[in-house]
Amino acid sequence: MTTMPIRLRSVAPVAATVLLGLFLGSVPVISHAASNHPRVSVIGLGRMGSSLAKAFLSKGFNVTVWNRTASKAQPLVSAGAVLAASPTDAIADSPLTIISLSAKPVSRSILTGSDVSAALRGHTIVDLSTGSPAEARSASEYVVAAGGSYLDGAILAYPREIGTNGATILYAGSADTFRANAKALAVLASDQHYMGEDPGAAATANLAGLDYFFVAAEAYMEGAALAQAVGIKLDQFRAIAAAHTRKLDPLLEEINRRIKAGDYAGDQAPLNDYSDAFKMIRQALIEKGLGHEAVDSFLSYAESAKKANDGDKDLAVLYRTIGGRNENR
Ligand SMILES: NC(=O)c1ccc[n+]([C@@H]2O[C@H](COP(=O)([O-])OP(=O)(O)OC[C@H]3O[C@@H](n4cnc5c(N)ncnc54)[C@H](OP(=O)(O)O)[C@@H]3O)[C@@H](O)[C@H]2O)c1
Repeated sequence: MTTMPIRLRSVAPVAATVLLGLFLGSVPVISHAASNHPRVSVIGLGRMGSSLAKAFLSKGFNVTVWNRTASKAQPLVSAGAVLAASPTDAIADSPLTIISLSAKPVSRSILTGSDVSAALRGHTIVDLSTGSPAEARSASEYVVAAGGSYLDGAILAYPREIGTNGATILYAGSADTFRANAKALAVLASDQHYMGEDPGAAATANLAGLDYFFVAAEAYMEGAALAQAVGIKLDQFRAIAAAHTRKLDPLLEEINRRIKAGDYAGDQAPLNDYSDAFKMIRQALIEKGLGHEAVDSFLSYAESAKKANDGDKDLAVLYRTIGGRNENR
């Protein structure tokens, strides 16, 4: 392994230098040069964490990093980051620490590690590791009880999109904490959305968005398989799907309007008409020996709606069938 200068920050620099030397070779200790640049720490340097740290470095932040496998810090250290000897040192080094680990139980194990708790006081943790709403709430309670501030986040982007217009990140937790850190966090994704004080809200919104996204992608593939079965090329079908996609956003807006107004009148196309068409789609899929789970789920909701005497209503009535609540009522 090549020897490289590592800018190291540690409460126990000598011991840490020896430890890191095992991973990285001979390690001269250098720290952040005194500067007025904002400081941020990043814990977890996998594909996403490395990208997050890189985005901060590119905007002139003083970045401290920590990763279980220290060698993954090399490219970031070469770009100006300081490698902390431990998660505790990383948290202590900056007012704001971003965590990006494989899952929330891993970040939990880091946050509850020995002597980490003392470093949390007066520091802000933003955990962008994927997890459940309950895990986010529990982590928030833990950090706040230790005297720190906590935001939970969900990234709707690939690592390569971080710091570009293509990235969206959802946040939840204390509004004051979000306001205080919004400018720094905007380095990662200018399209950032604050979901509310409930620390579980970003994780829930993420799950809700993924439900929409992947079920839509599944339905696209079901349609593509049917089209392909009669010789329509995949690219031709994508063009047809694009025409539907253009109509989708206005449809979602109309669905929202109807739900909020409680206006389910079937004045344009009643659900019965849709479900008749969907039975034909199902039959066509069966005839070609294809799967039909996506269309089945629509038909299942439509049948429930009909049983509730809603067959003559607008498609939007399915929101009620699903059990969705009207926020205005
Ligand atoms: N990649 C994406 O497209 C994407 C998109 C949105 C959200 N996310 C979320 O972002 C988070 C990170 O994803 P990623 O793509 O960066 O994953 P990754 O490349 O697999 O990195 C995982 C990170 O977790 C660390 N880790 C795993 N187990 C650990 C343990 N027991 N103790 C300490 N550290 C441990 C790894 O450390 P080592 O390097 O030492 O193994 C590494 O830093 C995940 O929650 C993921 O769901 C990812």
